Amino acid sequence: MTLIRNATVMTCDPQLPSLGLLERAAIRTEGPVITWIGKDLELPPELATGATIDAGGRLVTPGLVDCHTHAIFAGDRADEFAMRAAGATYLEIAAAGGGIRASTGPTRVASDEQLIALLHERLDTTRAAGTTSIEVKTGYDLTVAGELRLLRCIAAAAATSRSRVVPTLLAHLIPAERAADRDAYVRSLCTELIPEAGRARLATSVDVYCDEGAYTLAETRAILEAARAAGLAVRAHVGQFADLGGAELLAEFGGLSADHLEQVSATGITALAAAGVVAVMLPGACVQLRLPVPPVAALRAAGVRLAIGSDLNPGSSYCESLAVPMWLATTHFAMTVEEAWLGVTRHAAAALAIDAGTLTVGGPADLVLWRCTNPADVPYRYGSDLVDQVFSSRG
Ligand code: NIG
Ligand code: FE
Repeated sequence: MTLIRNATVMTCDPQLPSLGLLERAAIRTEGPVITWIGKDLELPPELATGATIDAGGRLVTPGLVDCHTHAIFAGDRADEFAMRAAGATYLEIAAAGGGIRASTGPTRVASDEQLIALLHERLDTTRAAGTTSIEVKTGYDLTVAGELRLLRCIAAAAATSRSRVVPTLLAHLIPAERAADRDAYVRSLCTELIPEAGRARLATSVDVYCDEGAYTLAETRAILEAARAAGLAVRAHVGQFADLGGAELLAEFGGLSADHLEQVSATGITALAAAGVVAVMLPGACVQLRLPVPPVAALRAAGVRLAIGSDLNPGSSYCESLAVPMWLATTHFAMTVEEAWLGVTRHAAAALAIDAGTLTVGGPADLVLWRCTNPADVPYRYGSDLVDQVFSSRG
């Protein structure tokens, strides 16, 4: 049981306007669910029992939802970070044998135990920064058996984590050793890997990196078709470097999210809006790779819901906290504070199709007590650790 009183509660309840803020409010949880939320003065006396936290007006929000991470990998690419700082570009480094392929070596040789331990550490670090639900993509092995192994390691880490983990199978890249027979490789994804991931329920969605240097639009279509046939939801990395038409394709497939979107046409934006696809902004990777800002104003005007992810990965964004992307979103991306909060709560949960990201009676007891009172403080005081306590429905 947890009872927090005298708090500024950000419910993100879609029934309430804006962020659904309740001033001088109380919130009570029993086990994994929220049992009461409302004005402090209206708390029934029989519920005003047990150990109570006086928040002193500080903010209570839903546990944060990180809807885009590549958190299972071994090794790091700090050397590439230094090369970029000295002027090299991400695509140049990738063409010279670095990039995603530089992470497959250490990931393939790591044992299951090592990969599970590394993921556990990252889940703990992200949780301490307020993230209670987190998507984790595969994508750093690239062989059929190896990608299934990564999914099993994600499941093993998830089973003993207090975070809620949402596993995604990512078609990340054609591995170097299959470059000469890419059609056969894509077929193996469609006829072996994806059906098995669906049958064994190891992933809930399939993601495709549809971009220059990765999968073509035709390959993406084949992979999304296989995902749908396997009963899995679909999402895609689209337009980080080049607009191949991924947004339109994803809309046609009723995708959950289109991620990155630095390059997307007006037609692509209209298609995303019509299909209700969530646009996931990844400002950490965008800024670090010095890419143009996605068309936030046009996405907003079209009515596309915006989410924000950390893109935690060893290459373009080794970021284990959502507060920094919230800061970049509200400054560099010109998103409002309200959009930033919805982006890491309700809209991120929509991108994952999970019940999270809001505080409602009967909903999951995932919440964060912050060391500040104003929602703007979190991006405004970037770099400060403002998380006081994290409560999660998984204990
Ligand atoms: O989301 N764009 C593709 N994937 C990652 C980068 C992965 C890597 O560089 O290891 C991203 O930015
Ligand atoms: Fe990514």
